[in-house]
Amino acid sequence: MQILDGKKVSEKIVEDLTREVFLIKKNIERIPRLDVILVGDDFGSIKYVNMKEKKAVEVGIDVKVHHLDEKTETEEVTKLIKSLNDDETVDGIMVQLPLPDQIDTNVVLETISPEKDVDGLTPTNLGKLFQGDKSAIAPATPIGIMELFKYYKINLSSKNVVLLGASEIVGKPLIAMLLNDHATVTVCNSYTKNAPDVCRQADILVSAVGIPLYVNKDFIKKDCIVIDVGSNKHPQTGQLVGDVDVEDVVDIVSYITPVPGGVGPMTIASLLLNLMHCYHDRQGNREFN
Ligand code: GUN
Repeated sequence: MQILDGKKVSEKIVEDLTREVFLIKKNIERIPRLDVILVGDDFGSIKYVNMKEKKAVEVGIDVKVHHLDEKTETEEVTKLIKSLNDDETVDGIMVQLPLPDQIDTNVVLETISPEKDVDGLTPTNLGKLFQGDKSAIAPATPIGIMELFKYYKINLSSKNVVLLGASEIVGKPLIAMLLNDHATVTVCNSYTKNAPDVCRQADILVSAVGIPLYVNKDFIKKDCIVIDVGSNKHPQTGQLVGDVDVEDVVDIVSYITPVPGGVGPMTIASLLLNLMHCYHDRQGNREFN
């Protein structure tokens, strides 16, 4: 079994971005800026936002986190987004999901200017992604997964890829990206009958269900490549674990992403890659894209 080392690959991306931002600063050009909107005090969301902020600062990007009260209404969030859309110093706007129930997430997302949509979640960018338009900004987690395939030279053409989970952030955009690379894609959701049987057809299995250690050897055919998007608290130990029971599948899989150190750091690095694309587009530096 080989590890798909997201920590290592993301560190290389972050190193390159740090050099790029250093040169921007040396040339006394405008510093790239990321604005993150966080509503409420969900423990996981705060943790994610802190990690994104820390990495962006490490790269040299200006970051501003707008932490709004749990009871904030849709209009207040869209008002803030509109002001950031109009602010020339802002290159990227990211709204941490999920939002509290009283907020209409789709209304919030569609307010973000597509040129500043670093998370690739506006209807414009998702639509472009499904049209195979290369100018689409794609969501960070699927980009991170595709970058891992690229780095480890895993060819997707004619591969059977099974996705466990079809979320707006991961599963759905990943369908488009995999199809654009000529994979054969099957998607399971919580209503799928005999999910383990479906998963055993997979050359590549991507699990994004958010259930600790849900995927065991019943789901895996020999030499399957496993991408574990899960980031879960172990019910007994409280430790961070993925969706995959690694001990159970270790002798069957060919490659696997560890948790932590797999998809997570790739997601953060991909968000920053997206931010730099937005920055260069807005600066008119076409050669960077
Ligand atoms: N919540 C968990 N992961 C993500 C992500 O990648 N983007 C956003 N906006 N919210 C998230």
